[in-house]
Amino acid sequence: MRTYHNYTLEKIIFELQQELSDLENKEIFEFSVINPDIASSTYNGTELLIDGKKSFYRGYKTWIELAQLLGCRMLTPKELNATYIIIRYEKLNSDSSFHNVITDKEEKYGTDSIFTQIHKNEEASFIYYYLQALKNVNIKEKKRILNLGVNSGDEFEAIIDFLQNTDNMEFIGIDFCASAISQAREKFSSYDNFTFIQHDINELNVLKLGEFDLIISIGTLQSSNLHYNTLLMSIVQNQLKRDGAMILGFPNCRWIDGEMVYGARVKNYNFSEMGLLYKDVIFAKKYLQQKKFRVTLTGKDYVFLTATSIKK
Ligand SMILES: C[S@@+](CC[C@H](N)C(=O)[O-])C[C@H]1O[C@@H](n2cnc3c(N)ncnc32)[C@H](O)[C@@H]1O
Repeated sequence: MRTYHNYTLEKIIFELQQELSDLENKEIFEFSVINPDIASSTYNGTELLIDGKKSFYRGYKTWIELAQLLGCRMLTPKELNATYIIIRYEKLNSDSSFHNVITDKEEKYGTDSIFTQIHKNEEASFIYYYLQALKNVNIKEKKRILNLGVNSGDEFEAIIDFLQNTDNMEFIGIDFCASAISQAREKFSSYDNFTFIQHDINELNVLKLGEFDLIISIGTLQSSNLHYNTLLMSIVQNQLKRDGAMILGFPNCRWIDGEMVYGARVKNYNFSEMGLLYKDVIFAKKYLQQKKFRVTLTGKDYVFLTATSIKK
């Protein structure tokens, strides 16, 4: 087994890339490192003298992060003794991603798609920042809430759990995916203040929904079938109340073989490239600031933009 006790991280990455390139998907690669519990309050790369040999300290965060960067999932490490552990990387099946599935555009995210296996509310870096965004827009005070690209309603479920009582509020979710909308209707069938409409966001105005206190749209406005800039401006002008608020979520991740993998992907690059993400986020930020909203940007695997009105 490889031992990486006194290697620099650069050298470890180089070796692991070579080892992993020879592995089939789902195969496991094991290597021994210094037990991270051997020290505390210690930064990565700190030199330690262990059994008379120079070694480098590294915490679990490095090994988990590196696993994902190298296309792997980190399995439970094995403890060799108090000083050394075995790190175990399982190579992800990169073919097992809904991003690779070609289907008609309306059912790409439907109940038969791999997308339904994803539970965003159970991903720490999604739910943590989404809840922060809900607090930031003062969700308790909002009465009419619109969700564009609602799919089966996960973002509404988180609001119900957060507020406990949503009786005096009205929720409307729009999505053009028929199967997702019928799943949402079933999930929320015990509530009479949740409405789900199967409709194309491009034709939002014909629904005559009126204005909303809060508009949420997660992972939707950048869809290739939508005209991002025009749509965003139209939503703000036509659907948002003067003193309303917005929460926009921009994915900065991909879903591969059970893992939420950090970093947006765009055509023609075989690595994560965030130019389009930054461009769209900054467009929304500048536009909303011009329209007299206070804008914050937070998040990690999803970038969350919250906008709250500062109009007098
Ligand atoms: C990436 S999914 C995000 C769903 C949900 N907000 C989430 O984050 O889990 C994008 C959603 O937008 C919907 N969508 C995309 N383009 C649409 C359009 N033109 N009209 C209505 N819904 C659309 C898709 O059907 C899908 O449910």
